[in-house]
Amino acid sequence: EGRVRVSSAKNAVLPIIAGTLLASTPSKLLEIPNLEDVGTICQVIESLGVKITRNKADDEIIFDASTLTATEAPYELVRKMRASFLVMGPLLARKGEAKISMPGGCAIGARPIDLHLKAFEALGAKIEITEDYVYAHAPEGLKGTQIYLDFPSVGATENVIMAASMAEGKTVIENAAEEPEIVDLATFLNAMGANIRGAGTNVIRIEGVPQLHGAIHTVIPDRIEAGTYLIAAAMAGGDVFVENALPEHLKPVVAKLKEAGVTVEEEIDGIRVISTGKGIKAVDIKTLPYPGFPTDMQAQFMAFTTIAEGTSTVTETVFENRFMHCKELNKMGADTQVISNHICKVNGVEKLHAAKTTCPDLRGGAALILAALVGEGQSEINNIYHVERGYENIEGVLNNLGADMTKI
Ligand code: UD1
Repeated sequence: EGRVRVSSAKNAVLPIIAGTLLASTPSKLLEIPNLEDVGTICQVIESLGVKITRNKADDEIIFDASTLTATEAPYELVRKMRASFLVMGPLLARKGEAKISMPGGCAIGARPIDLHLKAFEALGAKIEITEDYVYAHAPEGLKGTQIYLDFPSVGATENVIMAASMAEGKTVIENAAEEPEIVDLATFLNAMGANIRGAGTNVIRIEGVPQLHGAIHTVIPDRIEAGTYLIAAAMAGGDVFVENALPEHLKPVVAKLKEAGVTVEEEIDGIRVISTGKGIKAVDIKTLPYPGFPTDMQAQFMAFTTIAEGTSTVTETVFENRFMHCKELNKMGADTQVISNHICKVNGVEKLHAAKTTCPDLRGGAALILAALVGEGQSEINNIYHVERGYENIEGVLNNLGADMTKI
């Protein structure tokens, strides 16, 4: 019961911080969430010579990239977080070269970077790949061009937008990703003096400019954090208002909750869920690029279907190995059956029970927390550092709503 206010979107903050590398004067970002991944990307750009100044509350940060000197991102940081690779586009644009270790991050599928590299090559960069790193250089500068992405990759779209913002001439990205985080990045870059049109559709047009300046920006609310709390209320029962959640960004999640019989009200400043936690109907979901059902909500929604009446089918089409949470959910009495890399059947059970589980990755960990909220007894969840990459103070937020959760 109660209210929760969602933070700024992790997946928008990360590319936007990478984007500050493009400016020759300081940028200021407001309402920055206190997350592990944000700390990591800050360390990456600091290692490149950017000066970072934080306010006392640590939620406003000034990035001064006038001092950008290095073009090589350190291995320990890139290995920790795949999104570190987002500095490649800005570095190429501003310095004409970038050397970056092979990215790490959540172990959800192969997650190659071929689309990023193909696009950089199309923009005129030369790429050298060794076992450990990727070196890209554009001695004569980047040149605008037409790029068709074989898949609407979020990261590749962001990297190309940033690189093309300072390339010579016009770039058109076709089959671009349409995620709200891309729109937010384009809004920030346009405030810096870039000329980007069409972000949020699958064709993005960029007219390169020779220089960008700093800007002030507040990042959009985190739709995945919001969706996670909507599901928490839907599963545990109660009346929860998720303040700051944008219904337009959560259409498939809201639609599926309603289909399962949960009351969801879209209000002007957020979304309200009213649920008894009982009589949930089984529903099928299939993850897709935006505006389809987000893959980053798949695990949490699966946790929800474990206590539904009937069998739900969860189809994952974005990643090829994103069902690691199934085994852990089954430890709590769930009946999930992974049929293939892409399909999991969930036979709803009457109730879950407490168990000792281990977070397999960020969103899988969130799913385990949701299951533990309704599981009878005291659950213990290990490796919660995964969850802390993407949720600020999740135990405080859920305890405020009536949960009993302690970080050990
Ligand atoms: C971003 C999000 C992540 C989310 C994902 C999909 C951030 C920091 N992370 O990750 O939380 O789960 O979008 O919504 O914003 N692919 C290729 N080649 C490439 C790039 C991607 O084959 O060069 C494939 C990946 O292996 C994956 C799919 O495309 O199967 C989607 O990846 P992508 O959209 O690039 O995700 P990320 O940007 O890594």
